[in-house]
Amino acid sequence: MKIAILGGDGFCGWPATLHLSDAGHEVHVVDNLSRRWIDTELGVQSLTPMDSIQERCRIWREVTGRTIHFHLLDLAKEYDRLKAWLAEHRPDAIVHLAEQRAAPYSMKSDRHKVYTVTNNTCATHNLLAAMVETGIDAHLVHLGTMGVYGYSSVRAPIPEGYLNIRIDTPDGERAQEILYPTRPGSVYHMTKSLDQILFQFYAQNDGLRITDLHQGIVWGTHTSQTALHPQLVNRFDYDGDYGTVLNRFLIQAAIGYPLTVHGTGGQTRAFIHIRDSVRCIELALSDAPAAGDRVKIFNQMTETHRVRDLAEMVARLTGATIATLPNPRKEAPENDLVVKNDQFLALGLNPTVLAEGLLEEVVDVARKFAHRIDRSRVPAVSAWTRDLGATVEHDPEGRSLKSVS
Ligand SMILES: NC(=O)c1ccc[n+]([C@@H]2O[C@H](COP(=O)([O-])OP(=O)(O)OC[C@H]3O[C@@H](n4cnc5c(N)ncnc54)[C@H](O)[C@@H]3O)[C@@H](O)[C@H]2O)c1
Repeated sequence: MKIAILGGDGFCGWPATLHLSDAGHEVHVVDNLSRRWIDTELGVQSLTPMDSIQERCRIWREVTGRTIHFHLLDLAKEYDRLKAWLAEHRPDAIVHLAEQRAAPYSMKSDRHKVYTVTNNTCATHNLLAAMVETGIDAHLVHLGTMGVYGYSSVRAPIPEGYLNIRIDTPDGERAQEILYPTRPGSVYHMTKSLDQILFQFYAQNDGLRITDLHQGIVWGTHTSQTALHPQLVNRFDYDGDYGTVLNRFLIQAAIGYPLTVHGTGGQTRAFIHIRDSVRCIELALSDAPAAGDRVKIFNQMTETHRVRDLAEMVARLTGATIATLPNPRKEAPENDLVVKNDQFLALGLNPTVLAEGLLEEVVDVARKFAHRIDRSRVPAVSAWTRDLGATVEHDPEGRSLKSVS
C-alpha cells in the first residue's frame, strides 16, 4: 500500500513509519516539524538525541535499503498544498497523527489553548475536506485518545466508541446507537472530541472510510525497527508538559529524582506499549470499513493502572522515593476504568504487558542519556485553572531551598 503518515516525525509516528516501511509499504511522512519547534519554545529536548527527519530517512535507507519520503507541510495552515499533495500522490491509506498532543501544553495559557484548537481542528478538517474534494478513496486511520470518554467512574466497561441507549418517543421506547458521550478533561482532549464529530459527519455525508483509534497513554521507547541503529532512536519526552506518566516515573527513577505523584495518585489510566501501538495501526489498516459504514472505533489500549500503583511498582524496582504533590489538573481524585478492547484482540493483537524487563529497558535508556536531562524541566507545572496554579509545586526536590544558604 501507499501510506501517508501525517505527523510521522513524532513519538508514535516515527516508529509507525518504520514498522510500515519494514512491512513493505511505500511510506510518505508528512509533517510540519512543529513538535521540534515546541521543544525550542519550551527549552527542552528529547531525552534521546534525535537526528533531523531527513537524516533519519537516510539512515533507514542505508540500514534496510527501503525509502521513506518526507514532505514538509502544515496540515492546518496550508490547505491548498495539502489538497495538491493528495491529488498528486493519491495514497491508499492515511494515518493521521499530526496534532498537538499534550494536555498540559494545551492548558499552559490562553495562547496555547488557541493554538491547540486551531492546529488540531483545522488539521483534521482540512484533511477531510481535501479527501472529499480530490475524490481519493483512502482509508483514514486517526490516532485519538481514551481521554475523550472522560475519567469519571461509571463502573460499566467503556465500549468501543458507541453506546446503545433507549429513548422515550411519543410511540414508545426506541433503541438507538450514539457516539459514547464525550467528557474531555483538557483543551487537548476537547479537540479530539471535536474530531469525532468531524469524522461522523464526513463518513455519513461523503462516505469517507474512517477508523478512529482511541489510544491509551503510550510508554516505552524502542520498537524492533528503531533499535536497528542508534540514529533511528525514537524521541522520548520527559518534561512536565510532554512526558507521559510512566515514562516520567522511569526517568525520575533513573536520575534519582522523586517519583512525582499528583493528588492521591488514585487516577486510573489506560496504557499501551509503543510496540503494540504501531502493531495496532497496522491491524487497523488491514481492517478498513466500507464506504457508507459508520466510523470504526477501536479502544487502543492493553491494560489499566492506578497512578500510585505504578509509582509504587517503579519505586520497588528501582529504590526510588515517591513525592506526593498538589495536582495541577482539575480531575477526579480517584476513578475506576474498565475498558473493552475486544476488536484488536480479535484481530490478533498479542499485548505487551508491563514487565520488569521492559521497564528496565526504559530505565537503561534514561541512565544512558541522563546527562541530557534538565532537572528543572521535570516538574509538571501547567495548571488547569488560576486557583490551581497558585498551589503548583515547582520544586519537588527542594533544591532551591537547599541552595539558599
Ligand atoms: N503519546 C501518547 O501517549 C498518545 C496517547 C494517545 C493518543 N496519542 C495521539 O497520537 C498522535 C501522535 O502522538 P505523539 O505522541 O506521536 O505526538 P508528537 O507530538 O510526538 O507527534 C505529532 C507530530 O505531528 C506533527 N504535527 C503537529 N501538527 C501538525 C500540523 N498542523 N501539520 C503537520 N504536522 C503536524 C508534529 O510536528 C509531530 O511530529 C497524536 O494525535 C496524539 O493525540 C498519543
